[in-house]
Amino acid sequence: MKDLTPKKSDLDPIEIASRDEISALQLERLKKTLARAYENVPHYSKAFDDAGVHPDDCKTLSDLARFPFTVKQDLRDNYPFGMFAVPREELIRVHASSGTTGKPTVVGYTRNDIDVWAEVVARSMRASGTRPGDIVHVAYGYGLFTGGLGAHYGAERLGCTVVPISGGMTPRQVTLIDDFKPSTIMVTPSYMLAILDEFRAQGKDPRESSLEVGIFGAEPWTNAMRADVEAAFDMHAVDIYGLSEVIGPGVANECVETKDGLHVWEDHFYPEIINPETGAPVEDGEQGELVFTSLTKEAFPIIRYRTRDLTRLLPGTARSMRRMEKITGRSDDMIILRGVNVFPTQIEEQILKVEGLAPHYQIELVKNGPMDAMIVHVEATEVAAGEAEREASAARLGEHIKGVVGVSAQIDVRVPGGIERSMGKAVRVLDKR
Ligand code: DLL
Repeated sequence: MKDLTPKKSDLDPIEIASRDEISALQLERLKKTLARAYENVPHYSKAFDDAGVHPDDCKTLSDLARFPFTVKQDLRDNYPFGMFAVPREELIRVHASSGTTGKPTVVGYTRNDIDVWAEVVARSMRASGTRPGDIVHVAYGYGLFTGGLGAHYGAERLGCTVVPISGGMTPRQVTLIDDFKPSTIMVTPSYMLAILDEFRAQGKDPRESSLEVGIFGAEPWTNAMRADVEAAFDMHAVDIYGLSEVIGPGVANECVETKDGLHVWEDHFYPEIINPETGAPVEDGEQGELVFTSLTKEAFPIIRYRTRDLTRLLPGTARSMRRMEKITGRSDDMIILRGVNVFPTQIEEQILKVEGLAPHYQIELVKNGPMDAMIVHVEATEVAAGEAEREASAARLGEHIKGVVGVSAQIDVRVPGGIERSMGKAVRVLDKR
């Protein structure tokens, strides 16, 4: 793999500014954001009044902890446009979550918000090793989902040539990578695996492809998966994080030279970690739920939004801005099996350790009499697809899961192609209890 470390002189000065400079900028922006939310969004005026706090009470960054949280239900209650801090005419774009349960959540952007978003995605891509002039293949979905358009505007801002292919039509993804020779692909890690299958199905060696960088996010993925994909394509695999309520992709990103967690672009998004049960802030270094406050957004300021994503904050390394560790999972995805907490990413790690298993999987939860049971559906690789080999792989995976994760699981090893492929975010857990 090529050394793609960006030059220091190409970084935004704030990325490597002193902590004091960063904190000063954060406090100034935080005060403005709290005032903007309080003055323009009825939800926030009421929530702040109910909690007995006023924007003027924010004198230091730690005062933010006195302000109330915002949760997804607040956005649903104000559907569709009730959370906006500007007249609707000033929005130049809306996005919305898929809304699998109930109404979708709607977010909006002024022209300046779209500009900031392009800037943080461009910064994320530069941190990933993409350079101006590169060709960028965007296979995140375009539409109400923020992945496609977020990546698109960022790539344009960095000065790249964008291929806006979106998700799906996998054979064509491979053809266009072959013909256009992008340096960078932006896609969910699970869909990258489907593209990898297609390379092989077409008899093409993925290591010979032009790809040098994959910028993967929108769903949890492990370092074990990183190692697998980097070896398969001979390219860097870098993690990008974001959520529509905060802006979309580009809230935090790994640096290609360190790959040691995601630097949070703290000049625009203020992170906190809280104890998910009590809501109390915890120290940097401690695990908990990630909470974000936007610092520069105009249309949709968001105050202390509970992401439900579990991680911890760590000091900066390649940049001065703090890092968040790779997300373990969402609290919603945590499986409690006979008293043991299990995340899909823990199962993924074990699958990747078993030779003979492909990294496609789904976890099914069922009732077995009064007991909950977990079935791990996974797929054999081409060379280990015989019945005896599949049985052996199942036994090995069962042992690893029991030994490392600490739960007994039933293992179903299917023939290659037996697990449905995702074109965007993979559905990892099917709860049939
Ligand atoms: O998934 C935005 C995005 C698009 C991020 C493309 C990165 C790349 P939502 O659809 O609102 O937005 O979903 C946000 O996805 O709260 C996490 O649970 C999860 N997520 C996003 N990035 C990562 C990541 C986009 N790198 C939700 N690792 C978040 C783990 C991630 N989970």
